[in-house]
Amino acid sequence: MQIKTIATKPIDGQKPGTSGLRKKTRVFMQPGYLENYVEAIFAGVGGVTGKVLVIGGDGRFFNDKAIQTIIKMAVAHGAKKLVIGKGGLFSTPAASNVIRKLGAFGGVVLSASHNPGGEDGDFGIKFNGSNGGPAPENVTDAIFAATKTITEYRIADIADIDLDRLGASKAGETEIEVVDPVADYVELMEKLFDFDKIAALIKSGFTLRFDAMHAATGPYAKAILEGKLGAAPGSVINAVPLPDFGGGHPDPNPIYAKELYDFMASPGGADFGAASDGDGDRNIVIGRGAVVTPSDSLALLAANAHLAKGYARGLAGVARSMPTSGAVDRVAAKKGLDCYETPTGWKFFGNLLDAGKVTLCGEESAGTGSDHVREKDGLWAVLLWLNILAVRGESLKDIQEKHWAEYGRTFYTRHDYEAVDTAAAEGLVNRLRDMMPTLPGTKVADLEVASADDFAYNDPVDGSVTKKQGIRILFKGGERVVFRLSGTGTEGATLRVYLESFEPDVAKHGQDAQVALAKVIEAADTLAEIKARTGRQAPDVIT
Ligand code: G6P
Ligand code: ZN
Repeated sequence: MQIKTIATKPIDGQKPGTSGLRKKTRVFMQPGYLENYVEAIFAGVGGVTGKVLVIGGDGRFFNDKAIQTIIKMAVAHGAKKLVIGKGGLFSTPAASNVIRKLGAFGGVVLSASHNPGGEDGDFGIKFNGSNGGPAPENVTDAIFAATKTITEYRIADIADIDLDRLGASKAGETEIEVVDPVADYVELMEKLFDFDKIAALIKSGFTLRFDAMHAATGPYAKAILEGKLGAAPGSVINAVPLPDFGGGHPDPNPIYAKELYDFMASPGGADFGAASDGDGDRNIVIGRGAVVTPSDSLALLAANAHLAKGYARGLAGVARSMPTSGAVDRVAAKKGLDCYETPTGWKFFGNLLDAGKVTLCGEESAGTGSDHVREKDGLWAVLLWLNILAVRGESLKDIQEKHWAEYGRTFYTRHDYEAVDTAAAEGLVNRLRDMMPTLPGTKVADLEVASADDFAYNDPVDGSVTKKQGIRILFKGGERVVFRLSGTGTEGATLRVYLESFEPDVAKHGQDAQVALAKVIEAADTLAEIKARTGRQAPDVIT
């Protein structure tokens, strides 16, 4: 076997964002682009010689080719073993599980999550560490630093590996094993949830629909929901992963998962609807006549998780990202649980989970997960919901309404302005940052500003500090607006405006969130001059 050492130069802009490096697929397809970044990953993690690595992705366009390159580079670096999902596929949570189960050094996960795929879509790559979670900031910083000093990369001159055939082979010192990506994950879910109770619920006539959006979760959902739990064939729709997600945008929000939302709103809809995203870590759940916001889902799961066997002992604590609503805080307060507030990005939950400080975490961006892996996990959330529904024997709508009656309702919405001119978006945020000290006491849209700050996180486990994570404006009545720029986009800037208010009065819980939050929305626009500065009359996406 020949190992080639190829001279190269640093490529600008290989800076990992919220979740690894995300770029247009065509950018990744440029000669040397992927190779440079993979070499930088290997350098940033301290080398992979003699190490076990898990490799897989969400099946998007270029996934297969990128995996062959990564295999050849890992072989050139003398990795001990590479474990690859059949067809190059692993959902992100399944990859996290396999890393943990094998005690691997880490994994290379290929995905741009909920971003569209295809040659004109997006591609992404990230490194997960031995705990199964996305590399923390000190590691992503080291990777970025390595991209700036790179002079060469190494790659083995070997034939492509047949990713469609299960089994092991050897290249140089490296064992290469292609494994079933679904089996270990199914086994883990069976340990956590009462499959018999969920199966009995389904047998009694409870109907469900899961939209896999032609992305990574399809095979997992088919195996579990239809195979193990007995949901009617066809309950999992868009189940076959496709390189371009069937032309869709694999983000389970009301715009891109419209097919599911419309079905659930129709008279023939199911008792329970859910969808996941490109790499299977996000989820949304919908009941008959009840859409659950991700922030509420986290709160409801925190309040009910003990009903599933894997969580019967209760929760160590909970965590949410800062822009996620305070609904879970109320559950934590009532149950006497510690509640942590982290910056956006699942990597920030890793230390809390590893230290046993929290069991459950979640984000407004349709992510919920627990200490079973170190990623958010879409299908896991769906199964926890089904387990709770099976044990309580009530509809999702009833459960949600009772929850609001007990804890109050936190109205919540996120307004996204996508592909905004970068300078305009940064100008908007910088202006707010400059205004912060003068804001308390200001009145806008009948609301009075109580405080304003730029969120900084002091990690209680490793003491690291992460600054500038979003401008928070709190109003006297408990309303809140958060402004932040997305760290996962690939075109221009995406401005996210997170809006919430708290409503204890049951009589008002039935309101539409956009109506209930009208004043807060108006205040946000007035303060940040959103329309004027973005040139947009309305958000592109409302979640
Ligand atoms: C990914 C990350 C999440 C994050 C989300 C939105 O899915 O895994 O942790 O919440 O992106 O991030 P953004 O920076 O685009 O708001
Ligand atoms: Zn995702």
